[in-house]
Amino acid sequence: MTLKVLAEPKDLRRAKGALAIPLFKKNDSAEPAARIDEKILSAVRKVIGREFKGELEEVYSLPIMLNDKADRVILTGLGEEKEFQLDNVRRAYGKAAVKADEMKIETLSIILPEVEKPIADIAQAAVEGCILALYRFERYKSERKEQALKELKILAGDEVKEPIERAVKICEGVKIARDIANTPSSDCTPEKFAEMTISAVEKLGIKVRVYGMKELQEMEMGGIVNVGRGSSHEPKLIELEYDGGGDLYIVAGKAVTFDSGGISIKSREKLDEMKYDKSGGAAVVGILVAAALLKLPIKLIGLIPVVENMPSGNAYKPGDIIRFRNGKTAEIISTDAEGRLILADALAYASEKKPKALIDLATLTGACIIALGNHASGLFSNDDKLAEKLIESGERTGERLWRLPIWKPYYDQLKSNVADMKNTGGHAGGAITAAAFLSNFVENTSWAHIDIAGTAWIQEQSEQKSYASKGATGIGVRLIIDFLMNNV
Ligand code: BES
Ligand code: MN
Ligand code: ZN
Repeated sequence: MTLKVLAEPKDLRRAKGALAIPLFKKNDSAEPAARIDEKILSAVRKVIGREFKGELEEVYSLPIMLNDKADRVILTGLGEEKEFQLDNVRRAYGKAAVKADEMKIETLSIILPEVEKPIADIAQAAVEGCILALYRFERYKSERKEQALKELKILAGDEVKEPIERAVKICEGVKIARDIANTPSSDCTPEKFAEMTISAVEKLGIKVRVYGMKELQEMEMGGIVNVGRGSSHEPKLIELEYDGGGDLYIVAGKAVTFDSGGISIKSREKLDEMKYDKSGGAAVVGILVAAALLKLPIKLIGLIPVVENMPSGNAYKPGDIIRFRNGKTAEIISTDAEGRLILADALAYASEKKPKALIDLATLTGACIIALGNHASGLFSNDDKLAEKLIESGERTGERLWRLPIWKPYYDQLKSNVADMKNTGGHAGGAITAAAFLSNFVENTSWAHIDIAGTAWIQEQSEQKSYASKGATGIGVRLIIDFLMNNV
């Protein structure tokens, strides 16, 4: 299911298989977003404005003899020119790749739109769109569709060589994140999550340590230990380390392989979706894979607390008081607010290592979906500069972030009579009180928390994008890699 991606000279005579041509929507018609020669143009003119209008993600294929190796054109719509953004490139070319694959075309040649953005960014986005749109999770299908599309030729010259290689590497990380997040919880217990992680990173020179129950107890990680003890699958903490020299950055990700709610059990609606509650941790694996493939000049540690949140005779209970790695205590009001408890230990442990920045990704709260819907992840930070840079990466990658405050009164919602804090702060501002809870475990560290509850998988209200079909989106990988590439 791999796609070979090549840079070729900017010459339509080099086209092979089908040629994807981008068009903008123009009034009731469409116009090419790149220069193409008169012969092709006149053939294409017969359909534009009629069968094809250039709407975003609209595709139309027509037979045109381009040379002895290419006999087809796929028009792909970029939407309105004045609404142009990089993400539309991903969407348009993703759609074209799927169309080519459906038509059993082996090679897709593409020309890129000529717009006021760096050609490198356009090329990277186009390749990301194609690779991610072709992604399928087929581990459990007895009949697997063989991918017909094998090769992508970018007709844009040598200057796109590097960006397309970059895109391929980043997408490796995204695909791994999607695979892990999509795997059902019974086949992705904490132990199996660790095994999947090891097999994803072992050939890349990434160090892996997996701490089990006994070690977690010794490390005084009461959050992970207590959330994990209701399940017959013991919890783990996975520590990944990539060393490319340079400053230390840490990414931490919530990995609840299944969130039943525990003793504060959830209702049955959409409970199946709680297998995706490991998406933050899955993204961390993907980020480390991509960072290593890209040979980023930094040291990067990934921390993944992995647990299954289950009710049982051995489960932790409302009213319990637990103690975390940094010595602080929390009174458990709801065992369903478990993500913050396992992250608390991970963040405290991360702070001890004094990273330049610490970023966590978590499907943390339903309240974040109420606040922002499915079109942005929630961003919380104690560092305005870090927040700003992450927001910029969100714009570039289409993995948008919206920042929410963590003011003092939100902390007050967590006051407990018997412990340092409660683990929930009521319905009001639920995404923020969760972030406020986490901030108790970060010390003297530039930190950002990203709540991906609404963006980690395709939900009812999610925008349909060609490059992210049903299931896990792998969100966070492209975002954080963009941040690391542009700010270190
Ligand atoms: N994993 C959930 C959050 C979630 C819910 C993500 C739905 C995606 C979709 C989290 O562990 C949780 O249960 N949070 C509770 C917190 C509450 C008990 C304070 C929530 O959001 O209801
Ligand atoms: Mn929960
Ligand atoms: Zn959860």
